[in-house]
Amino acid sequence: MSFYQRQGELPRKRHIAFRRGDGRLHCEELISRDGFSGTYSNLYHLAMPTRVREAGAFRSWRAEAAEGGHGARHIRSFALPRAGDFVSGRRLLFFNEDVLIHKVHPVVGQEEFYRNGHFDELVYVQAGKGRLETQYGSLEFLPGDYLVIPRGVICRLAFAEEGAGMPSLLVVESASAIQTPRRYRNAFGQLQEHSPYCERDIRVPRLQSPREEQGEFPVRVRLRHGWQELVYDRHPFDVVGWDGTHYPWAFSIHDFEPIVGRVHQPPTVHQTFEAAGFVVCSFVSRPFDFHPEAIPAPYPHSNVDSDEVLFYSSGEFMSRKGIHEESLTYHPMGLAHGPQPGRYDGSIGQKETTELAVMIDTFRPLAISAEGLAVEDREYALSWVRDG
Ligand SMILES: [Fe+2]
Repeated sequence: MSFYQRQGELPRKRHIAFRRGDGRLHCEELISRDGFSGTYSNLYHLAMPTRVREAGAFRSWRAEAAEGGHGARHIRSFALPRAGDFVSGRRLLFFNEDVLIHKVHPVVGQEEFYRNGHFDELVYVQAGKGRLETQYGSLEFLPGDYLVIPRGVICRLAFAEEGAGMPSLLVVESASAIQTPRRYRNAFGQLQEHSPYCERDIRVPRLQSPREEQGEFPVRVRLRHGWQELVYDRHPFDVVGWDGTHYPWAFSIHDFEPIVGRVHQPPTVHQTFEAAGFVVCSFVSRPFDFHPEAIPAPYPHSNVDSDEVLFYSSGEFMSRKGIHEESLTYHPMGLAHGPQPGRYDGSIGQKETTELAVMIDTFRPLAISAEGLAVEDREYALSWVRDG
């Protein structure tokens, strides 16, 4: 995120002695991207953030592709079982070198802390309420929120309710930074007037009272090819102040202002985030195209350079039949797709849509996992002929 934030207590300048009331020094931590050239924040801790007391087990893990063949898919992600917490409950569905797409239906909040060492994360909250707790502070979340958690952030996800109110989350891991679309930013990084959302729509964590606790604080660290358990001897949320441009943030899909036109607008107008190798788009409630002869449903299209994953969040999705809340469709590059039978001509004259969906378009082919294939609706690939 490119806009500067400051919270809590800070020394007058960077890198000078900053003491507590009893004379002890605070410990400054610089967290920066692209070496020392990208966005960064300075955090001021009560204790050194380097105090690992135990390096636990390393468990190797690699995403494994299933033999799936080539074709359109409908993945019934709502049928995935409930298990684990925000981290251990992840069910990988699709992946490539740039991005991994998981679904999580947790049954418990996190006990341990978590840090993704090699990927930035984007969490779409399909259902459930709770709080993202980080060393930068806490951020409340609601259904429809996107949480952007850059790598390096030590965090924990707490849920407001147990049982029926447990969350359903779509989690995207990105090998590069997840950012606002470049074309909406001015030369100073500010979101411009034509952007569908702006800084005022973005929520940042609120710093909590620093925790001065000694003991055993396990942190699960996600690495490219495995998991490392580290145990710190101080509570990681011992920050008295921070400032800078590297921090987690939230944005609600309900604050995305749709761009509409007289005739069908390309998915580009729905773009919400960008990263190297993929984009994320939000399809929200909006008036339909208003040319008197407009066809509001999308024209069949072949994106020969992108794989498309669409997650159906709620509402009636205008171009699809047989799709439910939390369905995921996959359309591989080069294979034409478009409205289901009856939906193309049937859209003429319609005035608005209440659809809510999240699209991930990747620029390299995606592989599907065995867990994804296990909940596939195998009728979908031929549904343009069979249903017609
Ligand atoms: Fe498409």
